[in-house]
Amino acid sequence: MSRSPEAQAQFERLLPEAIAAARAAWCPHSDFPVGAALLTLDEHIIRGCNVENVSYGLTNCAERSALFSAIAQGHAPASFKAMLVYAPKVALIAPCGACRQVMHELMSAGCPVYCVGHDATAARDWTVEQLLPGAFGF
Ligand code: THU
Repeated sequence: MSRSPEAQAQFERLLPEAIAAARAAWCPHSDFPVGAALLTLDEHIIRGCNVENVSYGLTNCAERSALFSAIAQGHAPASFKAMLVYAPKVALIAPCGACRQVMHELMSAGCPVYCVGHDATAARDWTVEQLLPGAFGF
């Protein structure tokens, strides 16, 4: 994966945060931990992890946990530089459709989303727009 120096610096800064976030995951039903780290324009890092429930549909993904936490802490929509998503049990993690829709609403279209599984060579950098082209909105 070839990245600009700025993107590589963001990646290296966010990866340990997302790994730490994944360790906090509550995922007894899937045994599939996911961590997310969100870098704000004012240089804060907000972590998120998946939080499952025995009523499965109530589960919250790591990406949405991070974004909802950031908003709850007073960060404005579109005030983010990048997100990194980490899932150790797949070669490459791809955000689910629900999270893509939430990213579309709360992050800028060009914001990078670095996606990493256990195979570092399979890591992908997508933008919010690339993850959900033609997204619903009004
Ligand atoms: N999950 C995430 O947290 N993020 C993703 O990008 C994909 C899926 C969670 C939801 C559920 O807790 C578990 O992974 C298995 O689907």
